[in-house]
Parts: sequence; structure tokens; C-alpha cells
Amino acid sequence: MSFDKRAFRDTLGCFATGVCIVSATDKEGRPVGLTVNSFTSVSLDPPLVLFCLDNRSESLAAFLGAPGFALSILSADQQALSNRFARDPAASRWDGVDAVTGKAGAPLIPGALAVLDCAMHAIHPGGDHTILVGHVLGYANQPGAPLLYYRGGYAALENGRG
Ligand SMILES: Cc1cc2nc3c(=O)[nH]c(=O)nc-3n(C[C@H](O)[C@H](O)[C@H](O)COP(=O)(O)O)c2cc1C
Repeated sequence: MSFDKRAFRDTLGCFATGVCIVSATDKEGRPVGLTVNSFTSVSLDPPLVLFCLDNRSESLAAFLGAPGFALSILSADQQALSNRFARDPAASRWDGVDAVTGKAGAPLIPGALAVLDCAMHAIHPGGDHTILVGHVLGYANQPGAPLLYYRGGYAALENGRG
């Protein structure tokens, strides 16, 4: 098997995922957040979840220094928010977002399909990413359709579930 980075990314992109905004509060009390699709459930007892953060992330230091983080699982109508938290300068991503603060001090995205509020449980090296494992302190979900990501683009459920 030859190892071509583009082909590797294309292959990983065959795994359809949801889309989350992961968030925390930095040492100055400012909200930080970015779009991720590396969210994975890890354990039911204890309740653990993880996401993988690029080591080049502007928000890396804030996440590593935070007592916890929140994951907001986006609904189908939140694609613009996903783009904003992936592309806009970090400083303006929260403009106009009416976030409420979760149990671990991280801001939650209003209108998300689901939210998970986590205390930091473990931080592991993962190549050019860092694996952040959260202990879930609180969670909530509401009816609706999810925003999906597949082969490098957004997608929607075809059967209309949600
Ligand atoms: C659908 C989607 C999924 C993404 N998943 C991740 C991810 O799992 N981890 C990550 O570090 N960046 C991911 N990104 C890229 C970040 O959102 C993007 O690089 C962002 O600008 C990082 O901001 P920061 O430098 O403030 O951390 C994803 C982007 C998109 C659009």
C-alpha cells in the first residue's frame, strides 16, 4: 500500500460523521471554540468521550489549561455556524452567539442537537493531534436532524429522520 496523504484523507473521509463545536474558556475568561468531527464516545461507565485537537490549533493552550470542555453536536440548520468556527478568526467566532455556560465552565452553543459538558479526564499525545478525553458531567439533547460531514463536504440524512 503506497502512502499518499491526500488519498489517506480521502479514505478517512469515507467515514460519515456528525459535526460538533468544542468549546472551553481560557485563563482570561474568554470563550474559545472550533469545529470538529473527531468526536468519539469512549466509555459508558465512567462516562467518557474524546475529540482530537490539531497541535497547530490557536486554541490548544486554552484547552490544555481548562478544567473542562463542552461539545455541542450541531443540527442540520447550523452549517453556517460550523463554517464560522472552522474559518473565522478565533476572536470573532462567538460574536452574536448567545451561549450559556455549562457545568465545566465552557460555553454551550444554543440550538445544538445535543450538548455534552465535560471535566478534563486525560490528555494523550496523538501524532500531530492531541487527544482530549472528557468525563461527562451533564448532557442534553433535543429532537431534530443532525449536520453530517462526509467525503470533505456537508451532508444530510436522506430518510428525513429527526
Ligand atoms: C467538518 C470539520 C471538522 C473538523 N474537525 C477537526 C478536528 O476534529 N480537529 C481539529 O483540530 N480541527 C478540525 N477541523 C478544523 C478546525 O475547525 C479549523 O482548523 C479551525 O480553524 C481551528 O481553529 P483554532 O486554530 O482556533 O483551533 C474541522 C473542520 C471542519 C470544517
